[in-house]
Amino acid sequence: MNPALETLVLALATNEALLPPPRALFLGAHAHPSFHDWPDLTGWQPLKPLADAWDAAGFPRSDEPPSGSWPLVLVLPNKSRDETLAWFALARSRLEPGGTLVFALPNTAGASRFEKELSLATRDLVSLTKHKCRAFHATDDGQWNERVFDQWQSLGTPRNIPESHFITQAGIFSCDHTDPGSQLLADHLPANLRGTVADLGAGWGFLSDTLLRRCPNIQRLDLFEADARALACARLNLASHSREITYHWHDVTTGLPHTYDAIVMNPPFHTGQSTDVNLGCSFLTVAANSLRRGGKLFLVANRQLPYEAALGALGFAWRMAAENPNYKLLFADKR
Ligand SMILES: C[S@@+](CC[C@H](N)C(=O)[O-])C[C@H]1O[C@@H](n2cnc3c(N)ncnc32)[C@H](O)[C@@H]1O
Repeated sequence: MNPALETLVLALATNEALLPPPRALFLGAHAHPSFHDWPDLTGWQPLKPLADAWDAAGFPRSDEPPSGSWPLVLVLPNKSRDETLAWFALARSRLEPGGTLVFALPNTAGASRFEKELSLATRDLVSLTKHKCRAFHATDDGQWNERVFDQWQSLGTPRNIPESHFITQAGIFSCDHTDPGSQLLADHLPANLRGTVADLGAGWGFLSDTLLRRCPNIQRLDLFEADARALACARLNLASHSREITYHWHDVTTGLPHTYDAIVMNPPFHTGQSTDVNLGCSFLTVAANSLRRGGKLFLVANRQLPYEAALGALGFAWRMAAENPNYKLLFADKR
């Protein structure tokens, strides 16, 4: 169960003015059985596992936030402040005059703070708390403060990692700086990698950029990333490299379509708002299944994550290549 989704659905069910919606748009769409009763619900979801679940439930989906306007716009934001405010503005830009916006967030993600922020633009709000989450909605009365929405809209436009050419976007992993764990891995990646190489959970392309600069014998580099926005940034960030590069909007936990001479990764260990070590471990399993015999795995992890045991159980010969107070580098050979 997703508590924020359940709270959103409850807010809809307990407010007759919101149902039944003739047409609705769902930003950050999550599938829910109650939506099967809705005549016309379009979803946008940049995270591949959730987009796949939405598709599997049979709802229509757009790869990009669709253009047009709707009388009802639902939003389930993620955990970044700038992304949430940018999604407030995105939702507003897709709303018909007189329409209603509905948001839901966990309390631990700052739901009451975001409700106050939204009230700066809309003044009146109706809210409901349940499942340690808060859902709030506002109906356009023609009096909203559009300047506030304009400021929030600018938080979602492309931004730069300072003193670099790297482009990122609010809400994607490490959008304001290079991740220090990834930097440690980049500092230790060998220059002699060759053949076909994969970057799992490639984000906006930092490790891929390092590989392409350092390793002249890489013939093809495949990026796999679940967040469509991060992958779009990676395309821009790697555009100046003339090597063969492929980009996959892909849920790595479902396996890879090819085998590799080497794999690099800084595996994710969060699902939504919660820690999920199994997600990182499933990246290791997929790497084990996708490396050729003698293939090499290069990974960085927070020190407390128990990947050594997983590597051993998967039959890798591994070593700790470097460590600092926060991170460790585990380099492994597929036997
Ligand atoms: C710790 S970040 C590393 C990002 C990038 N490699 C870097 O070093 O900056 C992990 C990345 O994995 C992505 N991710 C999370 N779950 C995923 C999944 N199931 N399949 C593919 N990528 C996933 C996240 O969106 C995030 O970009």
